[in-house]
Amino acid sequence: MGFQTLRGTTDLLPDELTRWSKVEHTVRRLARLYGYREIRTPLIEEASLFLRSVGETTDIVQKEMFRFADRGGQEIVLRPEGTASVVRAYVEHSLDKTEGFAKLFYLGAMFRAERPQAGRYRQFHQYGVEAIGSSSPWTDVEVIALCVHILRECGVTDISVWVASMGCRKDQARSAEELRQQLEPHKSTLCQECRARLERNVFRVLDCKQPDCHAIAWKNMKLFSLCDECAVHFDDVRRGLKENGIAFDDTQSFARGLDYYTGTVFEVRAKGLGAQDAVAAGGRYNHLVEELGGPAVGAVGFAAGIERVLMAAGHQGTKTPTTSRRGAYIAVTNAALIGHGFQFVQQLRQRGVCATMDYEAKSLKSQFREADKAQAQFVAILGEAEVKQRAVTLKDLEKGNQEAIPFDSFVDTLVQRTGSSSCH
Ligand code: HAM
Repeated sequence: MGFQTLRGTTDLLPDELTRWSKVEHTVRRLARLYGYREIRTPLIEEASLFLRSVGETTDIVQKEMFRFADRGGQEIVLRPEGTASVVRAYVEHSLDKTEGFAKLFYLGAMFRAERPQAGRYRQFHQYGVEAIGSSSPWTDVEVIALCVHILRECGVTDISVWVASMGCRKDQARSAEELRQQLEPHKSTLCQECRARLERNVFRVLDCKQPDCHAIAWKNMKLFSLCDECAVHFDDVRRGLKENGIAFDDTQSFARGLDYYTGTVFEVRAKGLGAQDAVAAGGRYNHLVEELGGPAVGAVGFAAGIERVLMAAGHQGTKTPTTSRRGAYIAVTNAALIGHGFQFVQQLRQRGVCATMDYEAKSLKSQFREADKAQAQFVAILGEAEVKQRAVTLKDLEKGNQEAIPFDSFVDTLVQRTGSSSCH
């Protein structure tokens, strides 16, 4: 048997990538529209970056990181998420000095050693944004608005947006104590790991994959009780969302399973995704930049899983875009004409017209089949007769007509008819 992809990883074949490119294009267009600039960070990072940011007691860090020692013995991980890396880059390159308020976006592969199932993979792909350097509630509103805007344009319209505030560190300590007290009577029903979590980081019981622990924790989880400052901030966020027509549900109690969050957190759930219905999620993390050695500035962001966005768009009836015909296919009637045909192909490419041909001297019929598969708009036939008349026979596959075009004006004609942007 030949080699196969590893569990939880997938090959993205060309047909599938048409849909992926559309999402990526939408992300780039809309993120720029909102004033975000792209950043790319390495796939590998020092393990301690995620221990310090995502948190040592989280499932992501404890169980799901692909972690290894490199040849020099340094602990390396394949990044499980993007926020920590972007903040590391912000601090490392002092972006507070050059960018001021840094509004960044990213697209890329993330890795988590989870048990694979529909919508949950070991290598998955996120797009996300991080707005670093502001504590204004308007940044929270902007980030949520952008998140919803991108989903809409990707065809994910049937969504619910859950918004909550986890409060500041003091509020969190108070809420943790309340949850601990609520769970104490149920201690014997909790799994061994959750009994330890009760002491170390009680919110992690909420993420437990054991159904009993999960159910008990969520039954006892209340909305966070907020100090005055956090309550005002959260009111402003809700007002901003309302004023801008962004529907949300703030009655759901939920906590995000990464340690860096403070204040506003949100999750977007999409209809049709089943158990893994969180399509995007994010929130504010006001201490992370300082904790990683940078200035004491507020920040907020979100990330979405591209696989889940595409699954949701598919379930919600968004049609895969049909690619329209473009460019030209040069068909030659014998092997001796391949060189001549290739010159035309290259001249067209130089002028920005998508062009291809067959190099195997196949029959004209099979060349037409290939032209159709390549979604060519035109087939230019180059045979003995055409060489004699110094004119190609140009067939328009969309309109179905055929005409002779002199060699001299062939390239110009195609540039005109396809527009120079034929290859997008
Ligand atoms: P997260 O909730 O861990 O947050 O992941 C965000 C999104 O990534 C999820 O809603 C989901 O769509 C997708 N995702 C996560 N794990 C998997 C998986 N194993 N397979 C497929 N898709 C997955 C974060 O990563 C934070 N960095 C978000 C953030 C940015 N917070 C502030 N800024």
